[in-house]
Amino acid sequence: MVNFNERINRVNSLSVKWDGMENVFGHSDLLPMWVADMDFRPPEQAMEQMKQRIEHGIFGYTIIDEKVKNAITSWTNKRHNWKVDHDWLLFSPGVVPSIAIAVQAFTEVGDKILIQSPVYTPFFNIIESNMREIVNSELILKNGRYEIDFNDFEEKLKNDVKVFLLCSPHNPTGRVWSKEELGRMAQLCEKYDVVIIADEIHADIVLPPYKHIPLASLNKAYADRTLTLMAPSKTFNLAGLQASFMVAQNKEMRNKIAEIQAKNGFFALNTFGIIAMEAAYTYGEHWLNDMLSYIQANVDLIKTKVKEALPKLEVIESEGTYLVWIDCRKTGLNDADLRKVLLEKGKLAVNFGDAYGPGGEGFIRLNAACQREIVEDGVKRLIYALEAY
Ligand SMILES: Cc1ncc(COP(=O)(O)O)c(C=O)c1O
Repeated sequence: MVNFNERINRVNSLSVKWDGMENVFGHSDLLPMWVADMDFRPPEQAMEQMKQRIEHGIFGYTIIDEKVKNAITSWTNKRHNWKVDHDWLLFSPGVVPSIAIAVQAFTEVGDKILIQSPVYTPFFNIIESNMREIVNSELILKNGRYEIDFNDFEEKLKNDVKVFLLCSPHNPTGRVWSKEELGRMAQLCEKYDVVIIADEIHADIVLPPYKHIPLASLNKAYADRTLTLMAPSKTFNLAGLQASFMVAQNKEMRNKIAEIQAKNGFFALNTFGIIAMEAAYTYGEHWLNDMLSYIQANVDLIKTKVKEALPKLEVIESEGTYLVWIDCRKTGLNDADLRKVLLEKGKLAVNFGDAYGPGGEGFIRLNAACQREIVEDGVKRLIYALEAY
């Protein structure tokens, strides 16, 4: 069993999470529980194969071979019961770059793209920087759980939306969409002829009893209008290696993506991204299962301690992702004050909810993918900062 308790110093490792705080928060002396990466090393075999490649010593142009495609499709089949053909795969340095490419491939300037806030900040940035229009169907928080307002969802789609950008599992709310919810969203997209970009980067980080279902695995008709985006980056903590993939069953959609990628000069991935992706998908399943148990215990600890010490806060149940979404609205602090208290008094770096669009105000997002010791320290800081409110 991997020792997830082992502390690994990430300071001065070019880490956004550990070395980027001064830039983002104006303080460098914070405990970093922001940015969605983990403080864990990836599976041993991924490390080993990269080390061997370094020893080889020649880093010329690299091909994406059938072996890595096989590792990916075996993984989607084994973990998600989703059979993917090698031909349906496309590659990209990241899921955010893939969203940008897909927005350019499937929409024109001024077209409407539907999202469900509060949601991952780059969804807003990519749509706006490509001069498309954001249409938002805000999720509703009902009895501590986020739901889709399907009437609103349909009303919005009806109004000439071209693309629905789905986040599944959903960051930051931690929802793992059920088969029924996915089916209803896909059915409405079919009714109004809307293309689906399914960002499923968190697919593998799902806590029992929940189960991730790739939207495109529901049926061929839904798959035919869907571009699915996945990666080993969240799953195995490989984000810095910049390797991800897309799945498009529909050949026309695939060709359109390939055309935009070619226009932008994209042709292959980083050598180490390919090596680590293949090794992690091939050998990393035990590591992932152990990691998920560790995360579950971290999430439970946060929930229990916060409930005990800060009854005004509500920790939203994390069904998936290693992110914990906490409702702080009953403290009466506005976003600026919440920020000030957590950064200056608590010395704790979290993501603040207002960055996730409408519905995010007054919330914080805490990253639980770290050593237990850090979680305990982080919770202490949170309590110290907020107990007076
Ligand atoms: C929903 C979602 N999509 C995409 C990303 C980032 O993807 P990448 O680093 O591959 O661009 C994240 C990272 O937190 C995320 O939460």
